[in-house]
Amino acid sequence: MKTLVIGGNGFIGTNLTDALLAAGHQVSVFDRYPSRYKEPNASVNYLVGDIGNHGAIEEAVNGIDWVFHLAYTSLPQTSNDDPVYDVRSNVADTVQLLQCCRNSKVKKIIFISSGGTVYGIPQKLPIAEDHPTEPICSYGISKLAIEKYLHLFHKLWGLEYVVARISNPYGEQQNPYAQQGAIGVFLGNIVQGKPITIWGDGSVVRDYVYVQDTVKALVMAAEFQPKEKDHRIFNIGSGIGLSLNQIIDEIKLAVDMPVNVQYMPARPVDVPANVLDISRANNELQWHTEVSLNKGVKRTWKWVKTIHQKNHAQAASI
Ligand SMILES: NC(=O)c1ccc[n+]([C@@H]2O[C@H](COP(=O)([O-])OP(=O)(O)OC[C@H]3O[C@@H](n4cnc5c(N)ncnc54)[C@H](O)[C@@H]3O)[C@@H](O)[C@H]2O)c1
Repeated sequence: MKTLVIGGNGFIGTNLTDALLAAGHQVSVFDRYPSRYKEPNASVNYLVGDIGNHGAIEEAVNGIDWVFHLAYTSLPQTSNDDPVYDVRSNVADTVQLLQCCRNSKVKKIIFISSGGTVYGIPQKLPIAEDHPTEPICSYGISKLAIEKYLHLFHKLWGLEYVVARISNPYGEQQNPYAQQGAIGVFLGNIVQGKPITIWGDGSVVRDYVYVQDTVKALVMAAEFQPKEKDHRIFNIGSGIGLSLNQIIDEIKLAVDMPVNVQYMPARPVDVPANVLDISRANNELQWHTEVSLNKGVKRTWKWVKTIHQKNHAQAASI
């Protein structure tokens, strides 16, 4: 298939690009920045641009079969600071993208939504796709709004789509020096000899899924050929809830450096627990996770150390 990965130079996007190439697909990447850590792949057609540039998006989707939409301008923690920007840059520009996909007769759009925020505070665990959606951050609301537009475009104009509500992915290519992505950030702090900061008492429970399992789900979601009545929204996680304190214990087993933890006051956007029910993706996409947390954290740690050593070597040579 001819595929376009919008936001393909980010954490999930670079892993997805590799998975698509490995599955024999043609890949174009549309992103406003190059990849932070990965050298360009000679087999990929890279397009530089912003999703807000409608002409560029129109050209990019022309002749494409599958569009993966991963670009996002907001984060759960900070989206409430500027909800207008969130709506303009994510909802409005995505609806414009859907128009272009419709005009270009794209076969399917795969949208990366958020299993961690669209449901809000869970009424029961694990959370299935039909759980009420009451997000407590603008990011969750904008993701949900885009899901609704996908449904609308499908009903009105037959644009096919799948939504992947991803939990907490971790793994190679996740920026270890950033603010979000607990496992990546914790490993980034450890490799720099800094303490790990935990917001709250460490009892917050999340569902961590290894990135290569995640992108496998995205490829399977694209291959999935739903009939009219079939589901198009899937939770993608491990289905296992672990507290931050349990994650720290797991990390201590995986790394070969000291692990120091400092506890800070809890943040209001953090729901106390989030664990996804992944049985729909298991049964209907035939997707299953393959990499255990222990193995995934070890692989990620190896990658974080390599990146850190490379950064050090570069800084020393300047
Ligand atoms: N990482 C997570 O914890 C997580 C969890 C659930 C859902 N998601 C969603 O998955 C998607 C990918 O996340 P990620 O962690 O790989 O993020 P990322 O920030 O690593 O990658 C996003 C990429 O999109 C590009 N981008 C952003 N805005 C753009 C724009 N306006 N025009 C063109 N390119 C733009 C960025 O340059 C970046 O390369 C996002 O939609 C995110 O909301 C992420």
